[in-house]
Amino acid sequence: MSLELVHTIAQTRALVAEARRRGRTIEFVPTMGALHEGHGSLMDLARRPQGFLVVSIFVNPIQFDRADDYERYPRTLESDVEFCQARGVDLVFAPAIEEMYPQPQRAFVEVTGLTEHLCGRFRPGHFRGVTTVVAKLFGIVQPDRAYFGEKDAQQLAVVRRMVRDLNMPVQIVAGPTVREPDGLAMSSRNRRLTPEERRAAPAIYRALQAAAAVVAAGAGGTVEVRRAALAVLESEPLLRIEYLEIVDPDEIQPVAEIDREVLIACAVWAGNTRLIDSVRARPPHAA
Ligand code: PAJ
Repeated sequence: MSLELVHTIAQTRALVAEARRRGRTIEFVPTMGALHEGHGSLMDLARRPQGFLVVSIFVNPIQFDRADDYERYPRTLESDVEFCQARGVDLVFAPAIEEMYPQPQRAFVEVTGLTEHLCGRFRPGHFRGVTTVVAKLFGIVQPDRAYFGEKDAQQLAVVRRMVRDLNMPVQIVAGPTVREPDGLAMSSRNRRLTPEERRAAPAIYRALQAAAAVVAAGAGGTVEVRRAALAVLESEPLLRIEYLEIVDPDEIQPVAEIDREVLIACAVWAGNTRLIDSVRARPPHAA
């Protein structure tokens, strides 16, 4: 089967409906393009014998809190389509902005609470933009299952909560973070790093691993865990820390005590590029 590249909502709906009539389930991987192995791993997870695999590629303006980040976001549709073809994708939905937002968007989906900390604190309106576009995409594609990366741990928790609280008939499946050999989490933004910034960036994951080791050893509370991560990050002068937090993985609220599994998450600037990463860690003898 060859891949269909589609730019309209109407054609996407028609092809999805036809696949459904043929008895296929609808598997959906939403992306903003500039595809890499992180996206590829979600496609691999989403490819099922009876499945019709849909990938969306849309750089969603309403989730960007900075105009320059939106403008500089890499756009590589031609190679993305080849990437999808090689990964066995059936349909790529790549709408223009006017197709997704033909008039000013007046309806929004907002998840409260889970968006107060981590990226939500530093990127006003970001998660409202994410949940709104994901809800729109779910309305267009109407998938049985949708696949999201643990790389964006807060986004994953927020989307799960949206689906649950709004009774959306879609199952959310999570895929593990895919990393470069030196530990740097793959990201479309990595290609914006200078060679020096790229050399510095693996300290982010090393810092998270150092923090996770303190948790796993039961060797301290939140202060010690943060200190272990900060020591690694601060040794790298090209990196500037935006946040480093220890939160509950589902509610995304800071924890006072580490008595169960936690999410250690950070955002770090390397020059003009903002990178995020996170790991889960469990203390010994946790429930
Ligand atoms: P984007 O950054 O393109 O990511 C698309 C999906 O790929 C997300 O679920 C993300 O978590 C996952 N992903 C990215 N890097 C990954 C990695 N290194 N390992 C595993 N998975 C990874 O996230 C978005 O786009 C947008 O916010 C979107 C959900 C498409 C809404 O616009």
